[in-house]
Amino acid sequence: MSLRRLIGIYRGRSYARPRAALIPRLFPGPGAGPASCLFVCLLTWAFAAGACAATLSVPSGFKTIQEALDHASHGDLVHVAAGRYKGNIRLKAGVALQGEGSGSTFIEGDGTSSVVEGAGGAAIEGFTITGSGRKSAVGAGIDAGISCNSAPMTIANNRITGNNAGISLSYSPSNVINNEITGSHTFAIYQSYSDSLVSNNVIYGNTSYGVFNSHSSPEIFNNTIVGNLAGILSIASRGVIKNNIISDNAGGGVVKRTEGPAPDGAEPLVSNNLFWNNNGNDFKQSPGAVLRAPLFVDDARHDYRLRGNSPALAGGEGGVEMGAFGGIYAQKQVPAPPKEKSYASMRDMGYKLQGGGADITKAGRASARADFEANCAVCHGTRGRGDGQMANTLDVRPRDLADGRLMSSRTDDDLFKVIREGGRSAGFSDVMVSFGAALSDDAIRDIVRFIRTDICKCRYEGKGPEK
Ligand code: HEC
Repeated sequence: MSLRRLIGIYRGRSYARPRAALIPRLFPGPGAGPASCLFVCLLTWAFAAGACAATLSVPSGFKTIQEALDHASHGDLVHVAAGRYKGNIRLKAGVALQGEGSGSTFIEGDGTSSVVEGAGGAAIEGFTITGSGRKSAVGAGIDAGISCNSAPMTIANNRITGNNAGISLSYSPSNVINNEITGSHTFAIYQSYSDSLVSNNVIYGNTSYGVFNSHSSPEIFNNTIVGNLAGILSIASRGVIKNNIISDNAGGGVVKRTEGPAPDGAEPLVSNNLFWNNNGNDFKQSPGAVLRAPLFVDDARHDYRLRGNSPALAGGEGGVEMGAFGGIYAQKQVPAPPKEKSYASMRDMGYKLQGGGADITKAGRASARADFEANCAVCHGTRGRGDGQMANTLDVRPRDLADGRLMSSRTDDDLFKVIREGGRSAGFSDVMVSFGAALSDDAIRDIVRFIRTDICKCRYEGKGPEK
């Protein structure tokens, strides 16, 4: 692959990052010469499968990306020419999907659910990915640009913008490398039970956390995390947070939560990060912390390369450059996708995976149940008993919605209001987040009915205790 081709790939990016051009792509594109087949065979897991990978082309061979994916086999490469491709897609296990580059090749979601549904051992690179649905809250049911449920994979060299969450990883330890993630309505990267490698990403201007970790031990190296609600949240998580630049995040730099009995004491190893102008930070005193302005080339244009006098240039461990333009993956091969089955055993270990989202505009009990599973069960538990996956990690215990005595003291309007406006609106904690933006009023009314018919099996009997 010629250097010209490598540089060309990045020309369309919204901010200049010439040194990123040194990062090889995951897979050589088609037409790279007869050597390329051997190259693909040697470099990818296809070799182990004993067959040389085929390349399927869109739109010349197949009209849509999904059509090509549906025809691809394990180890194949689906190559997508520059252009705009509308509609959500589902990746296929062990298949690599490659666009011409994030500046020229767009996957535009249809505004419902996630734009790209991941698959085990798959890879995606070289796209702009935008336009997910807005189904929110925490858990595997969250709509995202790329959503992986029990599907560890590689996500590299993409621009992920204007989605609900950017990337959502649930039981999916993945490689997330050299992406630009911006303009998410919630988290840029959400991961639970996923020990991912998150490296060399530029994460800015997202409405919630840059990287949200729950019950995970990720390696978070050399990212630039600027101007999000908060930088990194670590809930009952370990892992390593190193050589990152974390600045101007109003809600905190790296925030740790380990409350609750079960996974208490979990703490990431934090070292050699630059922290600047974050409002609060649990790791300001960590080894090698640099507490000075990062001196980016041009904040206003989101050009987060470093100026010659930046304290981050040599602030990383061993004197290497901090942030998304330094460190090993700034110049080296992106690792091959993780093996697709490596986390399937989590199911066997008794973790219940959350179902996908329902059509929230459709009335009825079934969709309310699905909405509840996707949005509420992570805290309240699938039966509403206050024992969801995250229950032990929160400051405040989620309410036992199956408690008939308590729930019969609440009117339907009380419940509607708490769900729509959040806990604070009723004098409760705002750990109970508001769902007004994620769920329609009709959907919330259905959920209230569902709580009555299926969870507390109760109705309003007159005002009772406050809690
Ligand atoms: C991030 C965790 C979390 C999620 C997600 C969550 N809740 Fe809650 N919820 C809580 C907590 C914590 C409380 C208790 C707040 C307090 O005690 O101050 C609560 C309280 C409530 C209450 C108030 C009960 C009362 O006493 O009146 C209702 C109703 C409720 N949640 C319903 C829901 C529904 C429906 C969803 C999904 C659409 C949901 N919650 C999602 C954490 C959560």
